[in-house]
Amino acid sequence: MTQTISRPHILMMSEITADGKLTLRKGASSKILMKYMAHETELLLHTTRAECDAIMVGANTIRIDNSFLTVRYVKGKSPLRVIPSSMADIPLDANVLGPDAPTAIAVCEAAPTERIAAIREKGASVITAGKTHVELPLLMKILKENFGVNRLMIEGGPTLNWHMLHDRLVDEIRLIHLPFIVGGADTPSLVGGMHINSEDEMIRLDLKKFYLCGSNLVSEFDVLYTKA
Ligand SMILES: NC(=O)c1ccc[n+]([C@@H]2O[C@H](COP(=O)([O-])OP(=O)(O)OC[C@H]3O[C@@H](n4cnc5c(N)ncnc54)[C@H](OP(=O)(O)O)[C@@H]3O)[C@@H](O)[C@H]2O)c1
Repeated sequence: MTQTISRPHILMMSEITADGKLTLRKGASSKILMKYMAHETELLLHTTRAECDAIMVGANTIRIDNSFLTVRYVKGKSPLRVIPSSMADIPLDANVLGPDAPTAIAVCEAAPTERIAAIREKGASVITAGKTHVELPLLMKILKENFGVNRLMIEGGPTLNWHMLHDRLVDEIRLIHLPFIVGGADTPSLVGGMHINSEDEMIRLDLKKFYLCGSNLVSEFDVLYTKA
């Protein structure tokens, strides 16, 4: 019998270049590439955010992009912003700690209490999920059961994307294809992490839809592994 884990439905959404990169080079903000998205695609991104109960990006994306993660270009409620940072290492002046939408920082039990207190003082919730690092399956369970998150989107970066896929937590992928090639062996691509050792480990996708949104190609896939 398949055991069902209590977690939200999870969509990974990203803007990627024709060579699969997420930024111009390692350490660069993806906001530079996002400027080249068609307006219709910006609306799609913000409509998708408004359809979700929560949005998650990795802590490094917050450090580099200083994202707001709010709904701005369409009418709709901004989702709960969720940032995993095992040791609560989020800059206290980060835009996600501003008043525009609710925020939850996910930490582990080893996170320094003074950093947790400082984050709480900024008005954000702190979720402890894991002993030595943030355990994403546990975080998803907490978001579903304690925060009522039924639909969550993740917007990168590659490290978080890899961990979410590796933990079999992603149901769907939606890609906005930008008509550029940037190159660079160490330029962040859609999924980082460890390489695989054999074709058996490839994560299979089912292409379900592709369309033009303004001048951008958008592709949508289901992730085929069964939920653990
Ligand atoms: N084009 C796009 O759509 C797009 C979207 C987002 C980001 N980006 C780009 O991606 C780059 C950043 O990506 P990145 O790979 O360096 O970092 P990332 O995936 O944004 O963040 C990874 C960090 O998240 C924290 N984390 C805590 N628990 C985790 C867990 N269980 N699994 C994974 N991460 C966990 C860790 O930081 P702690 O050490 O604090 O725990 C980890 O270093 C930036 O250049 C950004 O511009 C592009």
